[in-house]
Amino acid sequence: MSRINRRRFLVIATSLLPAFMLSKAQASTGFNLAKAATSNGTLLAKSSAIKVGQSQVYTGKDASGRSLEIVLSRTKTGLVALNGTCTHQGCTVALNKTKLVCPCHGSTFEATSGAVVLGPSGAPKSSIKPLYKYKVVEKSGNIYIS
Ligand code: FES
Repeated sequence: MSRINRRRFLVIATSLLPAFMLSKAQASTGFNLAKAATSNGTLLAKSSAIKVGQSQVYTGKDASGRSLEIVLSRTKTGLVALNGTCTHQGCTVALNKTKLVCPCHGSTFEATSGAVVLGPSGAPKSSIKPLYKYKVVEKSGNIYIS
């Protein structure tokens, strides 16, 4: 693991404090990717739960029954659902306004696309992959992912 200096630590620590408060306040639970999905996919949320310009974190289970967080964002062009598992070494990212920040080594992703903004420990963004993006279907007041 690479070392970070005091300044870098303080930047990461202060950026994460509001992120933890925000993600806890918005977290919902219930989806389970291991259970049989509908023809539209696995139910994630009600359409009314998220407005344009918002991002929310949903906690549930992946296909293996492990805990998983999915970040859902509604932009002017549609819905985006991202796997909240950092592509560097698998920590769970935290929502901080419009960015997803990894608490382990500071990688940062766009909440509306999963694109890498900053690699681990300040490395170039080309050093890691973007967050996994799910297919999203919105139908009859519900939001499904697959
Ligand atoms: S696990 Fe290293 S930056 Fe996320």
